[in-house]
Amino acid sequence: MAKTSLLPLMLLLLFATFMAILSENSSNITTDQSVLLALKSHITHDPHKLLAINWSTSTSICNWIGVTCGSKHHRVTALDLSSFDLTGTIPSELGNLSFLVRLDINHNSFHGTLPFELTNLHRLEYLDFGGNNFDGEIPSWFGYFAQLQDLLVYDNKFTGVIPSTIGNLSKLEKLSLFNNNLKGQVPITIENLLNLICLNLDDN
Ligand SMILES: *[C@@H]1O[C@H](CO)[C@@H](O)[C@H](O)[C@H]1NC(C)=O
Ligand SMILES: *[C@@H]1O[C@H](CO)[C@@H](O)[C@H](O)[C@H]1NC(C)=O
Ligand SMILES: *[C@@H]1O[C@H](CO)[C@@H](O)[C@H](O)[C@H]1NC(C)=O
Ligand SMILES: *[C@@H]1O[C@H](CO)[C@@H](O)[C@H](O)[C@H]1NC(C)=O
Ligand SMILES: *[C@@H]1O[C@H](CO)[C@@H](O)[C@H](O)[C@H]1NC(C)=O
Repeated sequence: MAKTSLLPLMLLLLFATFMAILSENSSNITTDQSVLLALKSHITHDPHKLLAINWSTSTSICNWIGVTCGSKHHRVTALDLSSFDLTGTIPSELGNLSFLVRLDINHNSFHGTLPFELTNLHRLEYLDFGGNNFDGEIPSWFGYFAQLQDLLVYDNKFTGVIPSTIGNLSKLEKLSLFNNNLKGQVPITIENLLNLICLNLDDN
């Protein structure tokens, strides 16, 4: 009798422990806040004081300028800092914005190289880094963005060749690489991009 009633109890305990461990590690809106604060701390010049004043921890990050939260999970789904005149670099922490779908920082003065941790942004559909000062090679790990539809890195200082892994982006519709310092041939894998409707490689 005692034996049979003990088993469900033990299972319940095991389940509760498992859920506790899971929730302890899982990310939430607080994670997103720490990511955005990390990004803010990597901004060295903010002439219009857009982030300096508006990105204040006294209000929810969902009210911050340029930040959009999803209605379902209440997490950051879009970041639009286009034409804010910001100077800075992209911290690896940005890869922790796990619900991000749109990332648009076009026409600022972001520079340096892009951190590999961005590959954690599994839901990313739209990436616009155009009109900045990023340099180095176009990362081959761009090929990990399985959901990506728009890859816009025009008007930067990228060098080297176009990585063949671009051919992995099966959902890609728009690829814009104009006005960089790219050379060499267009990789044959670009033939795999059956959804591609716009390709701009001018001025390389
Ligand atoms: C939670 O994190 C700890 C270490 O930080 C790790 O040992 C453990 O496996 C993680 N648990 C889950 C469910 O991810
Ligand atoms: C977010 O998760 C942390 C633990 O990782 C927890 O301490 C905190 O209370 C949670 N915040 C919210 C708003 O759920
Ligand atoms: C930040 O900007 C948003 C959008 O422009 C605005 O609604 C909000 O009131 C501002 N918050 C602060 C603290 O300035
Ligand atoms: C965020 O990312 C950094 C670097 O990629 C990592 O060390 C850190 O543990 C992450 N933090 C959270 C809360 O996931
Ligand atoms: C590209 O796809 C191939 C297989 O199709 C895979 O082996 C490789 O890891 C992928 N690379 C990237 C950078 O996504």
